[in-house]
Amino acid sequence: MPERLTETLVDLWTPLIILWITLPTCVYMAPMNQAHTLTTGSPLGLSRQSEELRILNRSKRGWVWNQMFVLEEFSGPEPILVGRLHTDLDPGSKKIKYILSGDGAGTIFQINDITGDIHAIKRLDREEKAEYTLTAQAVDWETNKPLEPPSEFIIKVQDINDNAPEFLNGPYHATVPEMSILGTSVTNVTATDADDPVYGNSAKLVYSILEGQPYFSIEPETAIIKTALPNMDREAKEEYLVVIQAKDMGGHSGGLSGTTTLTVTLTDVNDNPPKFAQSLYHFSVPEDVVLGTAIGRVKANDQDIGENAQSSYDIIDGDGTALFEITSDAQAQDGVIRLRKPLDFETKKSYTLKVEAANIHIDPRFSGRGPFKDTATVKIVVEDADEPPVFSSPTYLLEVHENAALNSVIGQVTARDPDITSSPIRFSIDRHTDLERQFNINADDGKITLATPLDRELSVWHNITIIATEIRNHSQISRVPVAIKVLDVNDNAPEFAAEYEAFLCENGKPGQVIQTVSAMDKDDPKNGHYFLYSLLPEMVNNPNFTIKKNEDNSLSILAKHNGFNRQKQEVYLLPIVISDSGNPPLSSTSTLTIRVCGCSNDGVVQSCNVEAYVLPIGLSMGALIAILACIILLLVIVVLFVTLRRHKNEPLIIKDDEDVRENIIRYDDEGGGEEDTEAFDIATLQNPDGINGFLPHDRRGLLRGIPENAA
Ligand SMILES: *[C@@H]1O[C@H](CO)[C@@H](O)[C@H](O)[C@H]1NC(C)=O
Ligand SMILES: *[C@@H]1O[C@H](CO)[C@@H](O)[C@H](O)[C@H]1NC(C)=O
Repeated sequence: MPERLTETLVDLWTPLIILWITLPTCVYMAPMNQAHTLTTGSPLGLSRQSEELRILNRSKRGWVWNQMFVLEEFSGPEPILVGRLHTDLDPGSKKIKYILSGDGAGTIFQINDITGDIHAIKRLDREEKAEYTLTAQAVDWETNKPLEPPSEFIIKVQDINDNAPEFLNGPYHATVPEMSILGTSVTNVTATDADDPVYGNSAKLVYSILEGQPYFSIEPETAIIKTALPNMDREAKEEYLVVIQAKDMGGHSGGLSGTTTLTVTLTDVNDNPPKFAQSLYHFSVPEDVVLGTAIGRVKANDQDIGENAQSSYDIIDGDGTALFEITSDAQAQDGVIRLRKPLDFETKKSYTLKVEAANIHIDPRFSGRGPFKDTATVKIVVEDADEPPVFSSPTYLLEVHENAALNSVIGQVTARDPDITSSPIRFSIDRHTDLERQFNINADDGKITLATPLDRELSVWHNITIIATEIRNHSQISRVPVAIKVLDVNDNAPEFAAEYEAFLCENGKPGQVIQTVSAMDKDDPKNGHYFLYSLLPEMVNNPNFTIKKNEDNSLSILAKHNGFNRQKQEVYLLPIVISDSGNPPLSSTSTLTIRVCGCSNDGVVQSCNVEAYVLPIGLSMGALIAILACIILLLVIVVLFVTLRRHKNEPLIIKDDEDVRENIIRYDDEGGGEEDTEAFDIATLQNPDGINGFLPHDRRGLLRGIPENAA
């Protein structure tokens, strides 16, 4: 194979320069180390060793043969020989001179122009510049004429492991939940190595943990860090420092290494139940504490943190479950016991509660460890407080008849001091609520009496406030509203609801309703009003009028006959007795005035006498003046009319005269008029000459004669 390849290359490539690759001795370059300068038959002069190497590495380097290699970082006392240029071209007598040009020629690489040896005269760093492209040429020593075309080749700087791995992103932080299973992945880290990753092992890294065992492990190749212990407990140790090393040369001795730190924090899971700090709590509270007041706090500690430590608190048992409640304070993570219903020292002096704290966020993985809750006992002692008097009722409603006698007892309020020392109580009326001093109260027994007479028709309700004061401690005061309702007594007689004025038509029919009246009563009987109407006993057989009660409690007055006459009697007075249905009933007599008037056929009142007509309708002085003014105005109009009429007649007569006179003048000046037409010859219109010359000369005389007659 190498032979065949060489032959192929000979066909393709016919340079005259033979490149001997003289490879320096180097421990890192074991394959190259054995290279020796071979003079093969091949025109190319490539060392077999190099060929073989290239074939082996072809997948990476390709078929690149015209290159030399030099180790980086070489710093011996002599310049290092990189290789040698040689041509097997027969120079004859001529001497050959080798010339080098290109990257670093003369500065980094120096050629012996006779032998063709190339030396690196400077220290090279692959990580700085990995290859140099140079051009070689063989020229005639004397003429400097090229003996063949220039040939390009590459000097590659060969890597040595002169760079240590580095963790560029360190130090690292990572978290992993506590109680994780063994082998839970935590994070991974990566180191980089500047050395040639392709060639050799200078950049082949292997990771290991220097510190942090036995808690964590690292995968040597992938650098994935995992937990190495199961069930690590955050509550025992929360933070771990892990030191990680990356070593090149595949981890072999002699390799370079770099380290970094990783801080692993365990995150909390709910693996701890709440636990009350005390199993028994004691609180005391005054009996008069305001509802909703916090009485005490209980706290269950939880080693977990955050929501895993959150508990809800409940009262699950005890004799005070109805009176107390517990609320969870999420911030303080405790339970606040509050009063829900009033306490009474005199009734019950202590309570016992069983409270429970239960984790809110349970992790099912650990629920098997038992209930994530705890209980404690709370004892609450009620303390006596000096309390104000307590009335037997929160409000009182009293009723009293309006005719109740002065000083009679209307009702009674009672109150007591709830304290054990039970002070006597004194009662009084809050006078702001009884400005008229309508009532009195007996300071000792709370009996309310009437001080001034009542009148339901003036005021139905007297709402007052009674004050109870402890004799031993005047600051202990209570107040209670007392509503006193005044009950009705029939103390008002009924009367006409309005001042009625009735009119009666002279031509009215017998049995006709003259007026309907109704009655009113200031009293307020329970079953409403029912009125009885009657005529005075001496009027019962009144020949002129009769009465009839209507369904709606009103009364109709009817005329008995049609013989009423204004001339005979203008006004009738009809007394009517109205009585109510009270017990005893009250009655009064109201008199209805009936006026006789003249009416139209259809019963519309037209005239009563002035007194009876004008005034009853209630005409005011102003209205009378208005009517008078109207009459005067009417008179003025009449006078004016008559005057105008006379004026109108006068001109008519005069006009006749004037007309005649006018005619005279007209006939005189212009002609025309009836007479004239008669005399006018129409033919003259057709004959213009006639107008001028054929006008009868005596016509004027004739016309002139008419006015004389008329006058
Ligand atoms: C007095 O109290 C009664 C019963 O509470 C109530 O109906 C009434 O309206 C009150 N009257 C006045 C004037 O406040
Ligand atoms: C009835 O009317 C007549 C006149 O019309 C009168 O004289 C008489 O006194 C009246 N009777 C009563 C009771 O008014």
